[in-house]
Amino acid sequence: MTDRLARDGQGVRHAAALLSAGRIVAIPTETVYGLAARFDDAAAVQAIFDAKQRPADDPLIVHVSPTLVGKDPIGGLLDRGLIAPLTEDQAHTARALVAAWWPGPLTLVLPRGPAVPDAITAGLPDVAIRMPRHRDALDVLDAAGHPLVAPSANRFGRISPTTADAVLEELDGRIDAVLDGGPCGVGVESTVLRVSRDGSTRRLRPGAIDDAMIAAVLGAAPRAPGQGESAASPGQALVHYAPDTPMVVGTAADVSPLLTRVAVLAWSDAEPLLTALRPTHHVVAHRVLAEDGTPETAARHLYQHLRALDGTDADVLLVEPVPEGGGLRDALRDRLRRAAARRS
Ligand code: TXA
Ligand code: MG
Repeated sequence: MTDRLARDGQGVRHAAALLSAGRIVAIPTETVYGLAARFDDAAAVQAIFDAKQRPADDPLIVHVSPTLVGKDPIGGLLDRGLIAPLTEDQAHTARALVAAWWPGPLTLVLPRGPAVPDAITAGLPDVAIRMPRHRDALDVLDAAGHPLVAPSANRFGRISPTTADAVLEELDGRIDAVLDGGPCGVGVESTVLRVSRDGSTRRLRPGAIDDAMIAAVLGAAPRAPGQGESAASPGQALVHYAPDTPMVVGTAADVSPLLTRVAVLAWSDAEPLLTALRPTHHVVAHRVLAEDGTPETAARHLYQHLRALDGTDADVLLVEPVPEGGGLRDALRDRLRRAAARRS
């Protein structure tokens, strides 16, 4: 059975004690819930892959707190052997990004240090590291006293959880506990950014820290993930964040007339989509991502609404496309594209 721990001092201490003892515990972060384990416990790391049914070639993010890495996090990561010595340009870029967004939803991919086990990086020469901003996550890290690896707390390829209930839907009985920190504030996974030896950056996964924000700090936007470069970030499988119900991103005309039961996820107003559906379509449920029309609200609701609609008896989920514009909208488009991709 999986224990649900309250987010009080006792719950945090219990979560930390379980983790230190090599158990696996889901914890809230500002992005999504993560399934945490000691980074330096091979059996615990393996237990994460087993619980998630995650392929071993999909590397994990190491999570740290300000207490664990000190005032100069890049220096602290080096001292702990989590990263290897950086070039001057690389250190300059990494420090600027850390100063701007740690703690926060930005993961940096840097050369791995000697303390990082192979199982975490899938044998890659780089390691992904982030400092979450969620108070409960930081409290657990501080109480545990060691870094934690934490992939999103869902079964592989499925919708990431943004509440403790969603974690239990995914992993009840497969993990030791979940720390209930309430719903996640951001709602989509962190931006993943590789920092190269020449100090330039490449975005491996879009998130709340967008290209324009990065350009404002570095003076240059990150390169987009290149074609044929999927091996550079093995976790970016095309089919991901996916509901079990077939999903279409588009208009009412894109829904086959043969599929009768339709669940609708609209951007800010469901009415136009509902009226455009054919008379043969029966709407079993509908939800709106952002009544205020902002991408921040939409991101916060995305996975919860997808999960709820996936739980109906709909034959198909019809999702309205994300409106024009960049920033967090790019991250939402990315997640919807992967969620709608056909499983082979
Ligand atoms: O917001 C988040 O980042 C959440 C919370 C729990 O912190 N975690 C998360 O972890 O989304 P996960 O495992 O679901 O996604 C990790 C992503 C994958 O796309 C993976 O390929 C990439 O980070 N990644 C991890 N290590 C990497 C490495 N060494 N090189 C390149 N990409 C890496
Ligand atoms: Mg994930």
